[in-house]
Amino acid sequence: MRVNCLNSLTTVLDFKNLYMNPSTGNHATVVTRAVEKYAETPGGLLPLLHEIQASLGYIPKTSVPMIASGMGLSRAEVHGVISFYHDFHDEPRGETTIHLCRAEACQAMGSRLLEKHVKSRLGVDFGGTTKDGRYTLEPVYCLGNCACSPSIRIGDDVHARVDADRFDQLLDMD
Ligand code: FES
Repeated sequence: MRVNCLNSLTTVLDFKNLYMNPSTGNHATVVTRAVEKYAETPGGLLPLLHEIQASLGYIPKTSVPMIASGMGLSRAEVHGVISFYHDFHDEPRGETTIHLCRAEACQAMGSRLLEKHVKSRLGVDFGGTTKDGRYTLEPVYCLGNCACSPSIRIGDDVHARVDADRFDQLLDMD
């Protein structure tokens, strides 16, 4: 009982923090609406998370207590689902995601060198977002473009035979 009271209190405080912070006020509205929409839906957690991510671009860590409370789940369960699925993100993402192929064919054609250059040019490691919020860098394991390795995808566009110079050109044109 004591633990339940404590959990309720911390949920209220998290909820308040989410609402009172000007930068996350909109987040709270989106999360509240999604919870209301899916609270009674069996297996509603996944569509709820997709909806929040579609609206905000990510699932704020501060929203986990509210989601857990609204869906009748523990925070650990909600966090477990978010972290299990690679497509869910709990940090803001860049406007464009760059996927750099790390699979064998691309490695054989020099993707390790390209990777080093890309990380240096963007100033981020895999999973990171550039300071200006433009790009998030992610690894990918084959883009289905092995014959034209090394391959990279910028947004929705796959580019073939990319080396450091070509990457810089692509970024300058973006
Ligand atoms: S291994 Fe890189 S595109 Fe297939």
